[in-house]
Parts: sequence; C-alpha cells; structure tokens
Amino acid sequence: MMKNKEKIDQVINKFIGKKGSLIPLLQEVQAIDKYLSKDAMRYVSEKAGFNLAQIYGVATFYTMFRLKPQGKHVIRVCKGTACHVSDANSILKAVRSDLHLADGEDTTKDKLFTVVEVACLGCCSLSPVIMIDDNTFGKLTPELIAGILKKYD
Ligand code: FES
Repeated sequence: MMKNKEKIDQVINKFIGKKGSLIPLLQEVQAIDKYLSKDAMRYVSEKAGFNLAQIYGVATFYTMFRLKPQGKHVIRVCKGTACHVSDANSILKAVRSDLHLADGEDTTKDKLFTVVEVACLGCCSLSPVIMIDDNTFGKLTPELIAGILKKYD
C-alpha cells in the first residue's frame, strides 16, 4: 500500500493536464514525505502519465530533490568556492565525525540529522558556512560544531 496515497492524489489532481507541471508537482509530492520515494515516483508516473525515466531524470538532475529519507534536521554544509578556501572540508569532517556518520551515510541512525553538501549558500562573507534547517552559522571553526549540534533534538 502506497504511503500518503490520498495526499499524492490531491497533488496530482492539482497539476494534471497542465504544461510544465512536472517539477512543481514533484516538489509538492516531495514536501509530503520530505523525499521522493521510488514508490511515489512510480505512482506519479502511472497516475499523471509521465514517463518514469523522465521523472527519474528530473529528480536526479535538480539538487532540490531528495531520493533518500531525510533526518528531522537537514544540515547543509557549503562547499562553494569561498567556503572551500576557508577550509569547508574541516567543517564537514567535524560535522560528520560528531554525528558518527560512516562513509557513504548521510543520515544519522536516530534519523535526527541529514548532512548534505551544497554549493554557495549565498553568504560567502561568513565563510565557512553551514545551514541547519533555516538557520545559518558562519565564520565557523571545527571546534564550534559540537556546541551547535548539541542544541538540536
Ligand atoms: S561559498 Fe559558501 S556561502 Fe558562498
């Protein structure tokens, strides 16, 4: 049984037959579960008449789409140029080690945090920068990370 079928049906009904609707449709479907599951993409394909390959193509091309379940809080670690030269790598390392993430994992076992690497967050003067949900933290050092993460539960 598909999760959130009714909610997805509502989104599909809103967009069906409209031109250029695939991206906004997928965005709204993603908002329901915070990610696009394979089941959800398959369902949209069957119900809304989009080719599954086209849906995968869009979902994997645009960085706003997430194909894996997300933690309660999403940590965006900026890897843009300004942050990179301000040693964003050591910030990322500190975040990942504080959360005990193994290589290849980006969500903590308790599903509290998901870490994603992004290009410029638009506040380069504060580099290196991370965002946790809607909050920006800048001028970071690896030593500051544990104290910041502790505030989230
Ligand atoms: S490069 Fe990190 S905020 Fe711009």
